[in-house]
Amino acid sequence: ALERTFSIIKPDAVAKNVIGAIYNRFESAGLRIVAAKMIHLSQQQAEGFYAEHKERPFFGALVEFMTSGPVMVQVLEGENAVAKNREIMGATNPADALAGTLRSDYAASIDENAVHGSDAPESAAREIAYFFSDEEVCSRTR
Ligand code: CMP
Repeated sequence: ALERTFSIIKPDAVAKNVIGAIYNRFESAGLRIVAAKMIHLSQQQAEGFYAEHKERPFFGALVEFMTSGPVMVQVLEGENAVAKNREIMGATNPADALAGTLRSDYAASIDENAVHGSDAPESAAREIAYFFSDEEVCSRTR
């Protein structure tokens, strides 16, 4: 099905100057960027976005990392966009990520793992709405 997913290029990958390289992976796989912006997350924005992880031991480090520098947030659209983006990203821990995936190529650790992607269409809708208004998404489905 034609889907949308939400993606973050995290501070480590922005600092490595690989935004374009990562966008090329999305586009080469048939995903379209239908909304995008660069932002430096506030602590409140990062805590709200990752609220489901609030009780996890890595929450403090996650929020600190995600606010350490600018990120690119984008909406990707295409056939099976959620699963396709997860395939492009590779496993959360780069040590487990298949060769040729973004985390294998660009991530240093499970904490600094280059990209985020929604894990299901429901979380994609919530995550997109967290960062973009309807008018900011230039989707062919609306
Ligand atoms: P992300 O997809 O952005 O969602 C939460 C992030 O927490 C995850 O990527 C990882 O970068 C980070 N993280 C750190 N430790 C863990 C862990 N043990 N399990 C899952 N995520 C972790």
